Amino acid sequence: MDKKIFNVAVIGCGWIAEDKHIPGLLANKDAKITALCDVMPEKARRLIDVFGLEDVSIYTDYRELLQDEDIDIVHVAVPNPLHCRLTVDALNAGKHVLCEKPMALTKAECMEMIAAAKRNERKLTVGFQWRYRPEALYIKEACDKGQLGDIYYAKAHAVRYRAVPYWGEYITGNNGGGILIDGAPHALDLTLWAMNNYEPYSVKAHTYRKMADRPEGNIWGEWPEDDFKVEDTGLAMITMKNGATIYLEAAWSMNMISRDMTATLVGTEAGIDMQNEGGVRINGVQNGRPYVTEPDMSIPGAPFSIKPVAPMYRESMEFIKAIRENREPFVRPEQAMVVTQIIEGIYESAKTGKEVFFE
Ligand SMILES: NC(=O)c1ccc[n+]([C@@H]2O[C@H](COP(=O)([O-])OP(=O)(O)OC[C@H]3O[C@@H](n4cnc5c(N)ncnc54)[C@H](O)[C@@H]3O)[C@@H](O)[C@H]2O)c1
Repeated sequence: MDKKIFNVAVIGCGWIAEDKHIPGLLANKDAKITALCDVMPEKARRLIDVFGLEDVSIYTDYRELLQDEDIDIVHVAVPNPLHCRLTVDALNAGKHVLCEKPMALTKAECMEMIAAAKRNERKLTVGFQWRYRPEALYIKEACDKGQLGDIYYAKAHAVRYRAVPYWGEYITGNNGGGILIDGAPHALDLTLWAMNNYEPYSVKAHTYRKMADRPEGNIWGEWPEDDFKVEDTGLAMITMKNGATIYLEAAWSMNMISRDMTATLVGTEAGIDMQNEGGVRINGVQNGRPYVTEPDMSIPGAPFSIKPVAPMYRESMEFIKAIRENREPFVRPEQAMVVTQIIEGIYESAKTGKEVFFE
């Protein structure tokens, strides 16, 4: 496709639209925001004011927005239970879609979304923007080059000290779950991607609602009493078909030093982990001695002449490149589907108390 500028619509004008989608698109010279949609139109109007957007149509019904033939790409940023329906409708309307994470609530929904993308020959990607963090890219390269050897253990960390998002539908139960469909998908995505292993064998998991009545100290303020209907913590032991183990720890609120949206990977040659505040550590044994190294993750060369692009802004840029070059997006929907498949298995295991086996 040799189109110069892509017209983009954002459906859902809440927190992530304001924090990521709109600023990311504004930083993207190949994109123009032409439409916003929210069932609460004041939220769309607010974004127009906050960012000084011009020539943007506002819709309250996404189906009307999808009839606009000038729109090329749709960003789906609505609560999770709506991801599948809106994405499939947008793909059927001939739009390319960047859907927020988690891709959907079930593997079956993800399969429907992927089938719609294939049938309509449109691109579909999912908002796992933390892959663009320099340390995530570094870990991926180290794993792909075999520097860790045989990776047989990993930890996916999505642990926050006190950071419960209580706006919208996060804690009400109307979002499809709690931390396991909020932070956990990011950490799991980073881990599976680094391992390049998308073949889960089984999962045994537990969920907890232990901190839900303790809003004190939450960084975004205290939530109203009785609103908290979902799990605040999820812990899972995932076995992969090749025998590797992944331990997932996810919490919105936990008395443990925060390690959020990060991964630790352990191989026969070396181990590597992402730091919360940026940077990675590699450990192993060389010349008979244990070592720990921390690569310099600052911008090499002449920093004053290089404008770094925030990881979250690269998402829309990479997606448009994939559309233009007619290639697989950086975050492939088939990969995001496995994240959802595992989360679905975690919920089932926590509910039944049994190990869940994947096909
Ligand atoms: N990638 C990330 O790091 C990240 C971070 C936060 C949230 N998210 C994801 O983004 C999505 C939205 O989260 P949020 O924090 O912005 O929530 P939010 O509640 O702040 O915003 C959601 C918006 O969608 C609107 N909406 C609901 N139903 C709609 C419909 N049928 N049509 C149009 N608009 C509709 C709501 O009115 C609301 O304004 C969720 O799927 C969440 O998992 C991703």
